[in-house]
Amino acid sequence: MFRAISRSQISLRPFIRRAPACRAFSSSHVSRSDGILNSLDTLTEEEQLLQESVRRFANEVVAPKVREMDENEMMDPEIIKGLYEQGLMGIETPADYGGAESSFTAAIIAIEELAKVDPSVSVLCDVHNTLVNTIFRKHGTKEQQEKFLPLLSESKLGSFCLSEPASGSDAFALKTRAEKIGDDYIINGSKMWITNSYEAEIFLIFANVDPSKGYKGITCFAATRDMGIQIAKKEQKLGIRASSTCTLNFDDLKVPAANIIGGVGQGYKIAIECLNEGRIGIAAQMIGLAQGAFDKAVPYTYQRVQFGQPVGHFQGMQFQIADAATDIAAARLLTYNAARRKEEGKSFTKEAAMAKLVASRVAQSVSGAAIEWAGGVGFTRETGIEKYWRDSKIGAIYEGTSNIQLQTIAKFIQKEYS
Ligand code: CAA
Repeated sequence: MFRAISRSQISLRPFIRRAPACRAFSSSHVSRSDGILNSLDTLTEEEQLLQESVRRFANEVVAPKVREMDENEMMDPEIIKGLYEQGLMGIETPADYGGAESSFTAAIIAIEELAKVDPSVSVLCDVHNTLVNTIFRKHGTKEQQEKFLPLLSESKLGSFCLSEPASGSDAFALKTRAEKIGDDYIINGSKMWITNSYEAEIFLIFANVDPSKGYKGITCFAATRDMGIQIAKKEQKLGIRASSTCTLNFDDLKVPAANIIGGVGQGYKIAIECLNEGRIGIAAQMIGLAQGAFDKAVPYTYQRVQFGQPVGHFQGMQFQIADAATDIAAARLLTYNAARRKEEGKSFTKEAAMAKLVASRVAQSVSGAAIEWAGGVGFTRETGIEKYWRDSKIGAIYEGTSNIQLQTIAKFIQKEYS
């Protein structure tokens, strides 16, 4: 299927590389200095092109494989290859390192578009871009960037390894240890629920080099699969089944000290600051998912006739549909607002937490309603509507549970009001 589509028809690279126009979005679009105040969901011409192009890729290349990948619980390698060919695996990475040198908002738009068709493909792209690439871009040395960013932009999938069996929400209680021996660190421990890890070749591992310092001993290491990372159990999941989630074991994993990212003891800050951004990515995945379910189910309500009229014409249905559309729009505005604040250099942690919290709730409620709107058909696996609901459940769990988002928001409110 993928090969049947000519690259010139769908490739993002030609225009995504025209980075200045894309980057201008963050300044010109929301510029207050020149008096231009656009609506939050107004996209620049470049962004519209990006959106259309990712949409085309998702519909023509990803859509035909969604059901098979879900049933097989396996990402098709051709999809990953396609994401690289489209320039979607180094969206913000500088062109000198093989990336598209585009904006954070461009990444958000791409993640949203992919999720409309397959939230699994979306999260693969999201974690790779908003967590892994971001850490190398922001905290890597020049040598680390030169070594890893081109690989990440062109062919090697990245994975972010923070969670452990005993530290999920309490992420800084991680037990993986790194001990310095000569010019290397020896890492021992386990990671759990690691997205992309089955296919990944580049891993960012968070390990504590000095537990006596508590979370201030947490350090981020860049490692490659061939160093001896053991990919253990691959989880069987309720949703996003094509996205891999594995346990990783490190048994005397030797990583050169030169692979420490951002300095010894800086890992906790790197992890959470990057997760603040990543949460906007998950919010984008969730609004895309909600829209995808909505787009599949609503047309059916205007075709399905009961009691002499389309079921979508009954007020009971009309109001549900209107409510869902409003919820999606609200979640989208929260998400775009958080993205724009980030690009403007304003604080965005609270806004990102709000966006993820609301978007994951909306994804769950809209995809659940979509099944009911399509009735028996929606409950079968044929239409793919039920998959959106299964996929939505993870939104309230990864990159900080809903309770963690609430706690983050509450901390800001307490600071503001006391
Ligand atoms: N932004 C920036 N800094 C933050 C922060 C935030 N949102 N939350 C906490 N911090 C900083 C604090 O400022 C403090 O740093 P200093 O000592 O330098 O001032 C430090 O972190 C500890 O703060 P707390 O004692 O308040 O934090 P805590 O230990 O109670 O919890 C936390 C902190 C672990 C970050 C928790 O709030 C949290 O977010 N847990 C969720 C973890 C998570 O998101 N995991 C995702 C796994 S990866 C994943 O899911 C990817 C995927 O598969 C898709």
